[in-house]
Amino acid sequence: MRTAIPSSVHINVAFTLSCLLFPLLFGMSSAQLSATFYSKSCPNALSIIKSAVKSAVQTEARMGASLLRIHFHDCFVNGCDASILLDDTANFTGEQTARPNNKSIRGLNVIDNIKAQLEKSCPGIVSCADVVAVAARDSVVALGGPSWNVLVGRRDSTTASLSAANSNIPGPNFTLSQLKSSFSNQGFSEREMVALSGGHSIGKARCTTFRSRIYNDNNINAAFSKSLQANCPQSGGDNNLASLDTSPTSFDNAYFKDLQSQKGLLHSDQELFNGGSTNSVVNSYSSNPSTFSADFANAMLKMSNLNPLTGTSGQIRKNCGKTN
Ligand code: HEM
Ligand SMILES: *[C@@H]1O[C@H](CO)[C@@H](O)[C@H](O)[C@H]1NC(C)=O
Ligand SMILES: *[C@@H]1O[C@H](CO)[C@@H](O)[C@H](O)[C@H]1NC(C)=O
Ligand SMILES: *[C@@H]1O[C@H](CO)[C@@H](O)[C@H](O)[C@H]1NC(C)=O
Repeated sequence: MRTAIPSSVHINVAFTLSCLLFPLLFGMSSAQLSATFYSKSCPNALSIIKSAVKSAVQTEARMGASLLRIHFHDCFVNGCDASILLDDTANFTGEQTARPNNKSIRGLNVIDNIKAQLEKSCPGIVSCADVVAVAARDSVVALGGPSWNVLVGRRDSTTASLSAANSNIPGPNFTLSQLKSSFSNQGFSEREMVALSGGHSIGKARCTTFRSRIYNDNNINAAFSKSLQANCPQSGGDNNLASLDTSPTSFDNAYFKDLQSQKGLLHSDQELFNGGSTNSVVNSYSSNPSTFSADFANAMLKMSNLNPLTGTSGQIRKNCGKTN
C-alpha cells in the first residue's frame, strides 16, 4: 500500500482511510496476524509449543497457571509483545520488578526452553510474543479448559515499560470500579472482565496478596478465612501459598461458585460478586459452564490480539530475555 503510485488520489485516500478505519471500528489492530503465519516458515511451531507445555504441566500442574498469567501481564502492558520477558540488566530496567510481577511471575524458564527448541527447528522465525500467546492457550487446554484459535505473527518489542506494568495491571486490593476501569482501558466490557477473571480457576497466590482480605474483609466466609489464616499469619509467611479456587489444577467454573459462597481468595475476586453490577454474570457462569467456556475463549482471543507488533515493527528475538 505505501509503495502504490496513486492513479487517483481519491481512490488512494479512500483505501488508506478504510485501512486505518477498519481495524479501529472493529477495535483491533491485529489485521496482520493469521492462523497460518508459520505454516510454511515453521510448520512444527505450534506442535513444538503444545508438547512442551503439556510436558511442563505434567511435571507441575501449576505451571499452566503461571504461563497463562505471563500472557495476561504481557498483553495489558502496551500489547502482546513479549515485553515482560526482557530481563533487567545494568543499563536496562524492564517489567519484571513491577509490583504485580516482582517475585511472582513464574515460568520464564519454560518459555526459554520452548524458544530454544524453536530456534533449533527454525532459527529466527518464531517470536517470543507468539510463544507466550500459544503457550497460554495450550496451558488452559492442558488443565481441561476451552481452546481458541490463537492468531500468530506477533513480533517482539525492543522496549519494556516498568511504569506501564505498575499502572496497567490490576491489583488484588482493587475495588469493582477500579477493576472496571482497568479492563475498559484495554477495551474490555464488564462481562469480558468477569470471563477473563475466570483465569483464577487455576493457580495460586501468595499470602501477601490476600492477607488484608482474610483479616479485614467482611464479605468472606468465616470458616474459609479461618482456614487461610492458619497458613497466612498477620505478619510473616508472605510467600505462603493458597489456591485461587477450590480446584486449582482444573480449569472449570468452580471459581464462580466459590465467589457465590464468599470464598473468593483475593479482595478483587470477591468484588465481582459483592452486590454490584457483575453479580449476574457470576451467577450465569456459575450455573452454565459452557457459557463461561465460550466467553472465556472469546475474551482470551481478544486479549491475545491487543496491539501486536507486526510487519517490520519490533524484531524476532533470538533469546526471549534480551533484545538482539
Ligand atoms: C481481575 C483482575 C486481576 C487481579 C487483581 C489479579 C491478581 C492476581 C494476583 C494478586 C495473583 C497472585 C500473584 C502472587 O501471588 O504473586 C494472581 C495470580 C494469577 N492470575 Fe490474576 N489477576 C487478575 C486477572 C487475571 C486474569 C485476567 C488472568 C488470566 C486470564 C489471571 C491469571 C492468573 C493466574 C493463572 C494466576 C496464578 C498464577 C500462578 O499460580 O503462578 N489473572 N492474580
Ligand atoms: C547496555 O550495555 C551493553 C554493554 O555495555 C550494550 O551492548 C547495550 O547496547 C546496552 N543496551 C542498551 C539498551 O543501552
Ligand atoms: C522485589 O522483591 C524483593 C523481595 O521481596 C524486594 O527485596 C525488592 O525490593 C522488590 N523490588 C521492587 C522493585 O519492589
Ligand atoms: C492491600 O491493602 C493492605 C491494607 O490496606 C496493604 O497492607 C497491602 O499491602 C495491600 N496489598 C497489596 C498487594 O497492595
